[in-house]
Amino acid sequence: MAFVGLGSCLQTMFGPVLRLAEGLEVVAVVDSSAERLVEAREMYGLDNGYLSLDECLEKEELDAALIGTPVFEHVGHAVACAERGVHVLLEKPMARSPRECDEIIDAHAKAGTVLMMAFMKRFNRSMRKVTELIEGGAIGAVMGIRHNWDWGPDESGWVDPGWRGSVRTWGGQWQDHGSHSVNLSQWWAGPIRSVTAFFDITGPYPEVENDYIVVCTHESGARSTHAATRYFHRRGEERYLVFGETGTVETRHEADVFRYTTPHEIRLHRYGRVEENHRPKHSRNWQVESELHSQYKVELEHFVACVRNGKSPMTDGAMGRAAVEVTSAAYLSALERREVTLPLTEEPDYEYFFRHVAPQRTPARYAG
Ligand SMILES: NC(=O)c1ccc[n+]([C@@H]2O[C@H](COP(=O)([O-])OP(=O)(O)OC[C@H]3O[C@@H](n4cnc5c(N)ncnc54)[C@H](O)[C@@H]3O)[C@@H](O)[C@H]2O)c1
Repeated sequence: MAFVGLGSCLQTMFGPVLRLAEGLEVVAVVDSSAERLVEAREMYGLDNGYLSLDECLEKEELDAALIGTPVFEHVGHAVACAERGVHVLLEKPMARSPRECDEIIDAHAKAGTVLMMAFMKRFNRSMRKVTELIEGGAIGAVMGIRHNWDWGPDESGWVDPGWRGSVRTWGGQWQDHGSHSVNLSQWWAGPIRSVTAFFDITGPYPEVENDYIVVCTHESGARSTHAATRYFHRRGEERYLVFGETGTVETRHEADVFRYTTPHEIRLHRYGRVEENHRPKHSRNWQVESELHSQYKVELEHFVACVRNGKSPMTDGAMGRAAVEVTSAAYLSALERREVTLPLTEEPDYEYFFRHVAPQRTPARYAG
């Protein structure tokens, strides 16, 4: 397998568990930054580096590639792999628009290669526990979901959001984190029918939103709200409340990248007085947690099994597209100030939206 894009994907997510995942070998790494190739060699002993994916595909005989480049590179990289018969594990969000997702899906369907979306939360034991509670009837029918993913103004991304803050991404924090929460809400409450959204650009640098409120109406009638603010003024937090007819499940996690192996808090509330703790057991041993429960390791092993046995991945291209359709519909909703019904038949003019419509609310102390 080739590892393409050696930023946080290698540094904090897959890198630490690569040697633990069974059945795969990273034979090449690709990054347009020579510095990142040096880091990959020094930190993980991955020394067969290329500055471009095309060169790597030309010279190496690969079975598969993990693509962890910025979102605007996904379509080019995922299609190039398909054209060489290379199976792909693709980071979220799948691409910038449903049209780009279709290009990727068509290329892999034509090549007969596996296309798996890296929705690692579907492989996370805490999120699986929440799903088990919901599917086991612990809260009855899902009536609504409230999701918050908040960060303080002084945490990463406020000063220099890098590519995540550029108009070229066609989206900001909502596209980035919303792709996860949309995917989870589709897991817990089913397909989404319509979307209404509000975005703000706060802080001195981003050209795209870093503050949002999005309301999705699911086909079941359930509503999920998805919100993020940079004015949290405490440590970052990711929280989901799933409201059912007979109970509420609450799950919360400190959104610190170095806590990936820490299980989320999970509480089941009933009748306003019963509270059950369903948090998975934490051994406090990083090695044990990584070997048994790392969401990235479990995800990698699922990918390997799909490639080896020709199975369809649990998180496939259609699922990646479904999330992108919702994130794109939200930008259209904010641009045209209306509820947008799916399927999405038109695409927003992202550049126009971010440059002329999305409100800029830079606090005075950062403005000058
Ligand atoms: N699932 C998760 O937990 C999770 C977490 C973080 C990021 N991501 C996703 O991973 C992807 C990358 O995010 P990141 O945080 O690692 O970004 P990053 O900026 O840390 O790393 C991206 C890397 O790609 C390289 N790159 C850029 N253009 C390239 C090109 N054309 N060819 C080769 N290399 C190129 C950059 O030099 C950089 O090293 C995004 O899709 C992001 O949403 C997922």
